[in-house]
Amino acid sequence: MIERLKERFKSNYQASPAVIAAAPGRVEVIGNHTDYNQGPVIGAAIDRGVVVALRRIDEAVFRFSSADSSVIEISDSSQRQRGVASWLNYPLGVYNALIRRGLKASGGFEMSVESDVPSGAGLSSSAALELASGKAFSEAYGLTIGLDELAVAGREAENEFVGVPCGILDQGVSACGKAGHLVHIDCRELKFSTMPLGDDFSIWIFNTHKKHSLVESMYSQRHEECRKAVEQLKSAGLEIEYLADVTPEEFEANKKSLDIEIAKRAEHIVYEIDRVKRVRALLVEGKSAEVGRLLFESHASSRDLFENSVEELDYLVRILESMPDVVGARLTGGGFGGAAMALAGEAFTETYAESVASAYRGYFGETPVVIRCRIADGARVLESASK
Ligand code: GLA
Repeated sequence: MIERLKERFKSNYQASPAVIAAAPGRVEVIGNHTDYNQGPVIGAAIDRGVVVALRRIDEAVFRFSSADSSVIEISDSSQRQRGVASWLNYPLGVYNALIRRGLKASGGFEMSVESDVPSGAGLSSSAALELASGKAFSEAYGLTIGLDELAVAGREAENEFVGVPCGILDQGVSACGKAGHLVHIDCRELKFSTMPLGDDFSIWIFNTHKKHSLVESMYSQRHEECRKAVEQLKSAGLEIEYLADVTPEEFEANKKSLDIEIAKRAEHIVYEIDRVKRVRALLVEGKSAEVGRLLFESHASSRDLFENSVEELDYLVRILESMPDVVGARLTGGGFGGAAMALAGEAFTETYAESVASAYRGYFGETPVVIRCRIADGARVLESASK
């Protein structure tokens, strides 16, 4: 991928890049929609990602190319892009977020991008692009910035420049991932830590290729419903700011004061936060094999209470549950389509994964893409002319 990227950079810009940086996609292991409710979440960086090649130029123009697009040139880097150029909003959003953090912008730049994260699979190719760009910019412009802050800059780009009200999960995991480890994020304190998963486990992705046509607006709608839950619980007398402030006991004592639909959303978040805490405790004790039940419970809660699953994901999770050595499985990411993940031991092999895919094909008439993920490192500079 890197060689292909370098070649394309040379043929697009008749020059070599000054920096090459990479960042991984991610799997949400548990904590469905907990991040923007200020609860904790656990994810894993995977061995699929985005690689960015960059060089600064004197001329005040900004050029971008990807495997799917020839060179796009713009002159105003503060302008949000539309249509075929809308993917530029991820690197541009990060560039602007870094300028606010002290990056001294002068002249322009040329950028090329390669990715092997399947898009639409809930593996967050966008966060990988933000973090790889962020690493490339900070290296090329000599800005000292920690990975935690780079993750926050990536989320800022997505919230303010791209316009998606996501939490910190995707950027935090892409920034702070570590091979063989899961990343825990305390989304309120913005604290990132890693815990070993153990060598005996793999993460598998089954991508349905289903995507609800309104996926973005449905994500925003859930966000809004969580905000309403906080308002209604406040009116009932709870002194809270976020759903993460509500304990399961407080929720049970006050749920009657919530609208029926809002109560379901809140119940999911309150108990999902509790599940993340229990998964973390098990991982810290080295009991990875025992987290499975909580993953299945998480899926059931997304399906029945948060209502962000689809038939295809429910089917996959049901089949996976019956497979040998599948520790746990659930939908991963925003939902409303996308992918299911499974945490599995050594005895769950390619053959079993293929049988899951063929059962799915028999039922839905289409084949899900199966990816066995290795857990990888987070965002990093791969090559730099200044080193
Ligand atoms: C998407 C968002 C994340 C998170 C998940 C759901 O991946 O980008 O911030 O909210 O959905 O947990």
